[in-house]
Amino acid sequence: MCGSDRRMLPCAHVVRRLCTAVALTFLGLYITIALAGTFQTGNAIAASTLDGDSRHLHGEPWSARTLLQAEGASNCPLPKVDMRRDRYHCVVWRKACVDQNVIVSFDPDVHPTTSMGTLPTLNVTDIMYNIPSKYGIGDRYRKGSALRFPPLYVRPSNDMEEEEELRNPTFSKCTLPILLYAHYPYNAAETYRYIFEKLVTLQEAGFFNRYVTLVPGVPPGTKVPSYTKFWYNSLSDRGVVSLSELSSRRSTDTAPNVTWEGTHIRCFEHIVGCRIRYDGYGLRFYNAGQHVVRHYMPHYLAQAASFEQQLFEKRGIRIPEDTGTLRVVFISRTPHQSTVGRTILNEAEIIQKCNSAKEADLPPTEWGVPYRKYFCFAHIFGENQLMDVWLMRQVDVILGMHGAGLTNSLYMKPGGSVIELRPFGFSGRESWANRYARFKTSSLRELPWNVFWYGIDTFNASLSEPGIFEQQDKPHFSKFRTIKARDRHVHLTWAAFRNHLLNIAAVSRTFERYLSLRLSGAYYITDDVMQAEVPGNDPHVEKNRQRNFTSPEEERRRILQFPISNRNLQIAATPDRLDARQP
Ligand SMILES: *[C@@H]1O[C@H](CO)[C@@H](O)[C@H](O)[C@H]1NC(C)=O
Ligand SMILES: *[C@@H]1O[C@H](CO)[C@@H](O)[C@H](O)[C@H]1NC(C)=O
Ligand SMILES: *[C@@H]1O[C@H](CO)[C@@H](O)[C@H](O)[C@H]1NC(C)=O
Ligand SMILES: *[C@@H]1O[C@H](CO)[C@@H](O)[C@H](O)[C@H]1NC(C)=O
Repeated sequence: MCGSDRRMLPCAHVVRRLCTAVALTFLGLYITIALAGTFQTGNAIAASTLDGDSRHLHGEPWSARTLLQAEGASNCPLPKVDMRRDRYHCVVWRKACVDQNVIVSFDPDVHPTTSMGTLPTLNVTDIMYNIPSKYGIGDRYRKGSALRFPPLYVRPSNDMEEEEELRNPTFSKCTLPILLYAHYPYNAAETYRYIFEKLVTLQEAGFFNRYVTLVPGVPPGTKVPSYTKFWYNSLSDRGVVSLSELSSRRSTDTAPNVTWEGTHIRCFEHIVGCRIRYDGYGLRFYNAGQHVVRHYMPHYLAQAASFEQQLFEKRGIRIPEDTGTLRVVFISRTPHQSTVGRTILNEAEIIQKCNSAKEADLPPTEWGVPYRKYFCFAHIFGENQLMDVWLMRQVDVILGMHGAGLTNSLYMKPGGSVIELRPFGFSGRESWANRYARFKTSSLRELPWNVFWYGIDTFNASLSEPGIFEQQDKPHFSKFRTIKARDRHVHLTWAAFRNHLLNIAAVSRTFERYLSLRLSGAYYITDDVMQAEVPGNDPHVEKNRQRNFTSPEEERRRILQFPISNRNLQIAATPDRLDARQP
């Protein structure tokens, strides 16, 4: 299945990773039903201490399966990890301190002075990270994309402890840190799929509750990215913190809300360590986005007036509330990001064209769809993530170049659309481009889909211009053709954009209509509105139902036979309210 992609992919590990991901997706389809039975939704987390096998624990057999940190202490709302729900062979350190990125165990069951037991270790050395770079992903550097994590240093305590706190430790029963490691922590799209979505699924299944302290794995001394903090904050009532900060010898480094004690304590009754793998578990990407939406809804609603004001001051726009307007946000790039690449060169011109579209470009009345006109505007994502969530709840479409920004689509109300644009030489036809936004919006675990993916691959070379890395071409820059191509700037053709606007209007947030465009190939086009993908190559819909489209107009007429989703249109027309949160 991945063989034909091999020569186009940048390196063997990516091939392996993608093959595994794709294979697991198929496997996932078959085990969905089996797994669905084990999911527990809501917050019902078993409160008892349980017995069970100890295969997760690399030390001596130890019977407590549920780690209950509080044991009756006051002001301590029971942080809890239920090891029966562990999917990733997490390890548990009992009676352990953290000191300058080192885990120091005092657990008598695995301590050399009292036992023959083996101290649990967590092997993180196979984890890769892209060197964090002001230019974005480090994969633009030849040696920056597959850097390895150093081993996590775990040792037994000894009689030569330098730190006073470790010489006579008091182990917190209130605060329970969980160390969480996964590939590529410096890319938002990877963080979302490799670990964040899985954490949401794990929490819903009852693996850990909201009172634990989440410690994302980053190389020692480097910051936890803002998106990781933003997303992880939706899973815990404690502050998100790096191991460097948590284990720092300077108390000022840790925000008081990291521990339940409110002080910089470093010794804990339990510490859990997990290396989360990308496997068939979860894959509920829209669910994770909606989890973020629900968590932040009170916050973004409280700031709505200020966000409206900011949009008006920066862009001179107000997002229309009129449901007859198809609202489209363009992922715009800061001047700095634009220098690097991936700019829509004619963004302003296309937005202007969209907002002054003539009758021939608008959905005809006889379609019977609600949309009468378009409203397009640009927004820079990532500067205020709360505002981004708020904004995504009010648009029908997000359009952007291939990139992590498209992850914002998962905040949308059901039936929203994403248009992904790609430069010349970086088509999902022959590279890994479709593994991200298209993959996340098309999970087989989330049928019928709630976000509809549309693609525009640029096949005309004169519509792309090189980004800075391609232009400068230093010996230490990535040699991979597709990485350079990915970062090119493009001109978006009105023909392709217009075509998708009409598709999206005809679909009108209705899954069956979208599915028809998907099966016909009409959802994924080139700059000159030709089919971008050969039938059979879309791994998310039945192979034998995939076909070629002949005329985009014909495909749009064809989908009008499916009844429109009044439910989704109704949800889109209703502003978010706290008393009526989306399911
Ligand atoms: C850690 O995992 C890697 C990859 O799975 C393996 O090659 C290595 O031997 C492991 N190291 C230890 C100390 O177990
Ligand atoms: C903890 O504090 C930090 C700032 O110190 C804040 O950004 C974060 O939202 C807080 N988290 C919680 C869960 O209160
Ligand atoms: C490619 O794009 C250029 C610039 O818009 C245009 O002049 C040319 O006709 C296009 N070529 C094809 C084959 O569509
Ligand atoms: C789609 O079109 C291509 C190129 O014309 C052709 O080779 C292929 O057989 C067609 N596939 C289907 C399923 O119609």
